Amino acid sequence: MGKIILTGDRPTGKLHLGHYIGSLRRRVQLQEAGDYDHMFVFMADVQAFTDNADNPEKIRQNIIEVALDYLAAGLDPEKCTLFIQSRIPELAELTTYLMNLVSVSRVQRNPTVKTEIKMRNFEANIPVGFFCYPVSQAADIALFKSTTVPVGDDQEPMIELTRELVRRFNQTYGEVLVEPEIMLPENASARRLPGTDGKEKMSKSLGNCIYLSDSVDEVWKKVKSMYTDPLHVNVSDPGHLEGNAVFTYLDAFSTEEDFSRYWPEYHNLEELKEHYTHGGLGDMKCKKFLNEVINRILEPMRQRRHSLEQDIPEIYNILRKGSEAAREVGACTMDEVRKAMRINYFEDEELIRQQSERFRA
Ligand code: TRP
Repeated sequence: MGKIILTGDRPTGKLHLGHYIGSLRRRVQLQEAGDYDHMFVFMADVQAFTDNADNPEKIRQNIIEVALDYLAAGLDPEKCTLFIQSRIPELAELTTYLMNLVSVSRVQRNPTVKTEIKMRNFEANIPVGFFCYPVSQAADIALFKSTTVPVGDDQEPMIELTRELVRRFNQTYGEVLVEPEIMLPENASARRLPGTDGKEKMSKSLGNCIYLSDSVDEVWKKVKSMYTDPLHVNVSDPGHLEGNAVFTYLDAFSTEEDFSRYWPEYHNLEELKEHYTHGGLGDMKCKKFLNEVINRILEPMRQRRHSLEQDIPEIYNILRKGSEAAREVGACTMDEVRKAMRINYFEDEELIRQQSERFRA
């Protein structure tokens, strides 16, 4: 069996540096490494509806934003299939069957779903679709026989449930589906990027994001006002690194090459940190350097995005073609699923023959 990579995002906002460091950069690396048989990246609009049912316009607008972010970051439709979840009705079909193979209490034990329910004040009123989205996500993964799912650690409970459902399906109906493995981000700084305000997570609702599509001016405005160390009042004071968003970002993004290019006074981040914690180094200098580093990453994306924006119909075309290709793969799996579940009534000549015999006078 070959290696099949699948992953996706809910199209509920433009992608930001947290997405880039946590997943997008890795996807492009995986795509370029090419040691897989197929790579699928999709926009989970069906899943986005589970907590945005009253806001279809938000999802509609963000499909194109996320598509532009994907392509600008380097995902290449020649090398990976980009598609839209709702264009694959087979996903809904498989979800329906998987729902019978898991209990309500098992789905309730999912810590990520529990946190989301609190965050959205769904406690008293959970939409059934939202409650079931982990099963739908299992169908996303299983329909494409994905072996490898590169996601953040918050998605671990979903992958675990998928594995259980795949085992359960195969035990009940026969070996059709494939148990996937999670692929976590390599290092700690890639796992959760704090917001520019130093809060735990970069998140649209907190207004603390640097978007991949931000202009040079927007980036500098955000970097300039980033949270650092409230005790670092005078330049001569020793600075603290703990919880200092500027240094967390430098940990995540800066390279030795950045130092030689933009700040040759230091060889590497260790030297910079030493000076900072010792005292005598102002925040503004560090922010200027961080600004250079971020723009070094974003500038090629801005340029690609700008040229992609000149032909928006072509972007929809890419998504349509990707969705058609994905649907073909999904339809093949569903044929196998129906056969295993013995609901392939019209393709089963043996069944028709047997029934004819049984009812013959
Ligand atoms: N739950 C993921 C998120 O919130 C999106 C997603 C839906 C996904 N289906 C998936 C990710 C399947 C990986 C595989 O971003």
